[in-house]
Amino acid sequence: MANLKGKVAIVTGAARGIGAEIAKKLASCGADVAVCDLKAEWCEETVKAIEGLGVRALGIGVNVAVTAEVDACVKEVIEKLGRVDIMVNNAGITKDGLLMRMSDEDWDAVLNVNLKGTFLFTRAVARPMMKNKPEPGGAIINIASVVGIMGNAGQANYTASKGGVIALTKTTAKELGSRNIRCNAVAPGFIQSKMTDVLPEEVKKSYMDMIPLKRFGTAEDIAKAVAWLAGDDAAYVTGQIISVNGGMLG
Ligand code: NAI
Repeated sequence: MANLKGKVAIVTGAARGIGAEIAKKLASCGADVAVCDLKAEWCEETVKAIEGLGVRALGIGVNVAVTAEVDACVKEVIEKLGRVDIMVNNAGITKDGLLMRMSDEDWDAVLNVNLKGTFLFTRAVARPMMKNKPEPGGAIINIASVVGIMGNAGQANYTASKGGVIALTKTTAKELGSRNIRCNAVAPGFIQSKMTDVLPEEVKKSYMDMIPLKRFGTAEDIAKAVAWLAGDDAAYVTGQIISVNGGMLG
């Protein structure tokens, strides 16, 4: 297990689902965690669980798509927790529909949260990470998706946003590597969650047929990969897209 003692992490979309699991996993590795989601009160359950692990937790309401809120969030984390070492850009939404009928609003909403939100937090934490003492540095982990690599009918906005996250991950790694800031992405396959619970049974079955390991992933599967990327065991890993998808795409 990664040793993240003394490190401070920010996790977006951490009130529930994969983000909550990531926040708890980083805390169980010793990190203090800022639990961020649209409303601070939604974060209470995750915050309580983390405090129960004996580290500090902070619940913050922030819309990742709004620059002023993102900048204020990072400022608050530094004021209250002292530094930022780990940034997990996990907040994400879907607004599915066929391309020919997709509205501008649905396109913009998904791109703004999934891609712009990842950019805004990356930009906001870059300078504080460069100023970290005694060594500059940090780890940024973006949550992409298998469909950002392979495309998916009915998800033009979502797949484009996640493909964008993958390219942004590689660029961030190139720009910030000399400051000891690593940036990687985890690309989950189909994970049991509120996002996939709503899929019709026949769609779930057709996905299962594509998965060699014959099960949907769990939030814990993703959290473990994130914790590895956050820690020193991944010290020489940057600009990579780690697929955690049961083998559905090589
Ligand atoms: P979820 O819908 O259960 O949780 C997403 C969280 O993000 C929610 O707590 C929500 O309030 C928050 N959020 C949404 N918009 C926000 C905003 N503007 N600002 C701040 N927070 C916001 O989703 P889930 O399944 O846990 O997904 C987490 C990440 O994993 C997403 O980026 C998703 O695209 C990605 N992913 C999920 C897969 C799955 O099968 N569930 C597969 C591949 C990727």
